[in-house]
Amino acid sequence: MKEKLAIKGGPRAVPEGTVKPWPPVDEVDRKMVLASLEEDCHTFAHNCEALQEEFAAWNGNKCAITTNSGTAALHMGLVACDCGAGDEVIVTAYSWSSSVTCVLHHNCVPVFVDIDFDTMNMDVDRIEAAVTPRTKAIIPVHLHGLPVDMEKVMAIADKHGLKVIEDACQAHGARFQGKKVGTLGHCAAFSLNQNKCLCGGEGGMFVTDDEEMLEKAKSLWSFGETRTPLEDRDYHVYALGWMYRNNELSAAFARAQLTKLDRYLAAMKANAQRLGECLQGVPNLILPTEPEGCDHNWYNYTIRFDMEALGHAGDACAFRDKILEAMKAEGADVIVWQRYILPAMTVFQAKNGYGKGCPWDCPHAGRVDYSPEQYPAAQKHADSHVGIGTPLRSPNGPEVAELTAAGIRKVMENIDELEQPA
Ligand SMILES: Cc1ncc(COP(=O)(O)O)c(C=O)c1O
Repeated sequence: MKEKLAIKGGPRAVPEGTVKPWPPVDEVDRKMVLASLEEDCHTFAHNCEALQEEFAAWNGNKCAITTNSGTAALHMGLVACDCGAGDEVIVTAYSWSSSVTCVLHHNCVPVFVDIDFDTMNMDVDRIEAAVTPRTKAIIPVHLHGLPVDMEKVMAIADKHGLKVIEDACQAHGARFQGKKVGTLGHCAAFSLNQNKCLCGGEGGMFVTDDEEMLEKAKSLWSFGETRTPLEDRDYHVYALGWMYRNNELSAAFARAQLTKLDRYLAAMKANAQRLGECLQGVPNLILPTEPEGCDHNWYNYTIRFDMEALGHAGDACAFRDKILEAMKAEGADVIVWQRYILPAMTVFQAKNGYGKGCPWDCPHAGRVDYSPEQYPAAQKHADSHVGIGTPLRSPNGPEVAELTAAGIRKVMENIDELEQPA
């Protein structure tokens, strides 16, 4: 149906004020955070310890350490897996930066693998070609909440004696073959950042079932010491250490949110399903897939514009941005999450890590090539996607998904009102 787009002066598809912010805050949150505030200790203490136990129980892990970010938990994964200077770690070409910069943090060398365009995750069929005698670990990222095919990843890891660090920062509650992410590799990292399914403001969680790996991770976590602040500390630095501990206020908030997490995840799934139903038949959209055996958590419902079907041979990224602006003008809360592929980022192109060429010029390191042309699927994705997050989260219900879909549909059905960039 022909309609005047809001960006051209027509009426909005989604009324102002429709989308409510994430996360909902209720009495449970207020009570737990204020109780923590009234206590004397605001650094790592009993709320942090309780959060570790409760999260490990919720996810089905033997051990957990709470951190001040998901990035910290990923870095701890590197040390838990015995990665050292110059070792290679296989990573995905498209994700959040810290899925890869965590490798640099430990003076190791990232080796990128292109994504599978359909799932947006690391192309598991390309991992084995990236393995060299220097490879120590693989970091599969369950991007946007869709689990990676961990059966294939673990088979490659077992064959080559590699360790697997799951980046589950976006994927709380997602499952592969019925098992929760974070229980499938040797260790895993979750984020508790504002936008994540479990919010503590900021924060993270390192999980593993291996107590030896836990001890190694713990040494990096708290100044290189081996004891937590609740134990009898000797203040001795046993290993290279950072300060990656979580704090009581964030942990109290995350504990409160954890009591509601299953409900929030179920609502997100139902809303995503409704969005998917409403987007059926919208022209020139590529909808996300959920391969058999995968249980998506729908952290980010990512759609792509089919540039070929749209007949657009010019700057895909510029056209995507135009479509995005038109959708935003309709009031649809759509975003571009990550517009750059990782190997194209300056830190990798300039090979500028710790300075003086490290880690790439380390005597233990091999030569790696980060020419962006090696990652065409990641580039195509980066140039053509937009994502829907907040509209699918509580307290927003299916009616918000319906309105968001209406805004998206309106733009795609009237796309000839937008001029295509060269
Ligand atoms: C896939 C992925 N990995 C890692 C991180 C890092 O988590 P944090 O922001 O808690 O450090 C994020 C956060 O945005 C992420 O999306």
